[in-house]
Amino acid sequence: MLLTIPHVLAPQELAQVRALVLGADWADGRITAGSQSGGVKNNRQLPEELPAAQQARHLVSSALARHPMFVTGALPKSVYPPLFNRYGGSTNAFGNHIDNAVRTHAATARHVRTDISCTLFLSPADSYDGGELVVEDTYGEHAIKLEAGDLVMYSGSSVHRVEPVTRGERLACFFWVESMVRLEVQRRLLYDMDLAITALRQQDMHARQHDYAKTGEAPELVRLTGCYHNLLRMWADV
Ligand code: NI
Repeated sequence: MLLTIPHVLAPQELAQVRALVLGADWADGRITAGSQSGGVKNNRQLPEELPAAQQARHLVSSALARHPMFVTGALPKSVYPPLFNRYGGSTNAFGNHIDNAVRTHAATARHVRTDISCTLFLSPADSYDGGELVVEDTYGEHAIKLEAGDLVMYSGSSVHRVEPVTRGERLACFFWVESMVRLEVQRRLLYDMDLAITALRQQDMHARQHDYAKTGEAPELVRLTGCYHNLLRMWADV
């Protein structure tokens, strides 16, 4: 499941994150690469222990936690603390690879199974050429280039790459999510169901002139919402 979520960061948060990370000292991107991806990774990455990285990470994590689409789509159990990378000049691409299945956070020794990979774009899309995130799934390849502040989530099991940046610079934040629901097919079903129930509830509220206190919601909606939670109860590992 490939999901894009616009406006995860508000303009002011985006400006803060950009200022924090652009002013810091960057390192070779291979500091977090596995043995397979290390051979094709050619970018720069912000060392996670830097104070600027910690502050920027906190801003991104807070924005994610309050974003309903992120929570609905990922059903997060654990989020790897967001990292930052940049592509441009002679360090401008990341060839085909699959992310490591388990990431261990160095500072806490906490393990995160990478069910979902996420990229939060931090550069205006028209400020650089190339730099598309290309993700393969069962329907083929998808090239993704979003506006600054927008997020893409895709299955951690996908082969993916970042195309060479040929003009300007691509700044991004990336991280992984271990989901309460391990299987993508189950997450997809819950996501579709959640969106449909939310839309039906809006219609129902409108039909009842938003007076739920008097009328309650339609009994079918109560049952359908129950089905969602019963599926989640059956599949969730918390
Ligand atoms: Ni990757």
